[in-house]
Amino acid sequence: MRIDILTLFPEMFVNVLGHSILKIASEKALVQYNLFNIREYAENKRCVDDRPYGGGPGMVMKPEPVFNTVAAVEQQTNVRPKKILLTPQGHRFSQSLARELSKEPYLMLISGHYEGFDERIRTGMDVFELSIGDYVLSGGEIPAMIVIDAVVRLIPGVLGDPDSITNESFNNGLLEYPQYTRPAEYKGMKVPEVLISGNHQKIKEWHNACALERTLRKRPDILNRV
Ligand code: ADE
Repeated sequence: MRIDILTLFPEMFVNVLGHSILKIASEKALVQYNLFNIREYAENKRCVDDRPYGGGPGMVMKPEPVFNTVAAVEQQTNVRPKKILLTPQGHRFSQSLARELSKEPYLMLISGHYEGFDERIRTGMDVFELSIGDYVLSGGEIPAMIVIDAVVRLIPGVLGDPDSITNESFNNGLLEYPQYTRPAEYKGMKVPEVLISGNHQKIKEWHNACALERTLRKRPDILNRV
């Protein structure tokens, strides 16, 4: 998968993409990250935002630097990217959206900053608007990192053990069951007997029951969707 990131702050991504699973994925050549600084493509590099027409607080990201960057990047390859605009007004990001996006060959993430985007960036380009939740951040950079992390770990081959995806929270619509590791007893707190029993059928039943109980208690809203 090719992932292009269009941003005014490419340096913010360097650390996140250079560690852990995201780094391993690019080392295995399962993903290629490309950072583009929107400012570099602006006619006036010192002016990428401006005051809103009609008045109002804050600054609005100008259309021209974003359109220019997208056009320059699209010239690099014949493959059409799925363009994603990070904005609090977008579709709510979820595990199932992450799964869908992980099947795309080419994602282009456009992160805005300041008060918002000039509306023509939304309407004049074929973009999929994506929000990571109902709160407003100071820019789309952190949301883009979150989307990249959730998507890349689902690309086949990125995680060493594919079962870690099948068993985790949200995959089957439930939260994950409780996990334990050694020691069997810590500060008087014991690992449930059944997990040490070696009875795989019983362990599976226990996992299912715990996942269900936990979801009912902590997130009844997602249980309704299963
Ligand atoms: N930019 C600012 N807030 C955001 C959010 N919640 N999701 C995506 N992009 C954003």
